[in-house]
Amino acid sequence: MKGKVIFLLTIKRVENSSEFEQAYKIRVEVFVKEQNVPEEIELDEFDKTAVHVVAYRDDEPVGCGRVFMEGDYARIGRVAVLKKERKKGTGRLICEELIRIGKEKGAKKFVLDAQVQAIGFYQKLGFAVKSDVFIEAGIEHVRMEAVFE
Ligand SMILES: CC(C)(COP(=O)(O)OP(=O)(O)OC[C@H]1O[C@@H](n2cnc3c(N)ncnc32)[C@H](O)[C@@H]1OP(=O)(O)O)[C@@H](O)C(=O)NCCC(=O)NCCS
Repeated sequence: MKGKVIFLLTIKRVENSSEFEQAYKIRVEVFVKEQNVPEEIELDEFDKTAVHVVAYRDDEPVGCGRVFMEGDYARIGRVAVLKKERKKGTGRLICEELIRIGKEKGAKKFVLDAQVQAIGFYQKLGFAVKSDVFIEAGIEHVRMEAVFE
């Protein structure tokens, strides 16, 4: 049968530990298994206070991200989409929800440490590079910032 495959993509704010586990599982898959980030540093102290989101394709968790306040600005991080689900708009929707959450907390300025290979992805969301390249978890990063009124 010919035709378009339609699926439902939902971005949900994490409300309990089992939803957080879904986010964390994606982080392990993407950052630890795919990118070799040591698992000891994947979970950090900011996970307790951050707001996390999970993206679901139909009922399956396929992406995640988090945001928390640092002074008067919001810091976005741990944005990940399972390899098989990339380039379908999921990462963008995750970041748009994280920006909405940051705005609700009073932030106008948003900051993130982007892997160099993801600079173009964040530029499309309005972020600009604000630092030289530095190494974090063995991966080249740059600091990026955006202001959303
Ligand atoms: C980076 C990542 C989150 C992007 O997620 P995604 O669901 O594939 O992104 P989207 O499909 O929403 O892409 C939105 C736009 O950015 C572009 N884009 C996506 N990944 C890109 C990349 N690595 N470099 C440049 N542009 C990119 C898309 O082509 C799309 O452009 P369009 O709007 O013109 O069509 C995903 O590739 C990922 O999880 N990578 C591994 C982990 C990672 O690097 N996380 C970021 C840590 S800083």
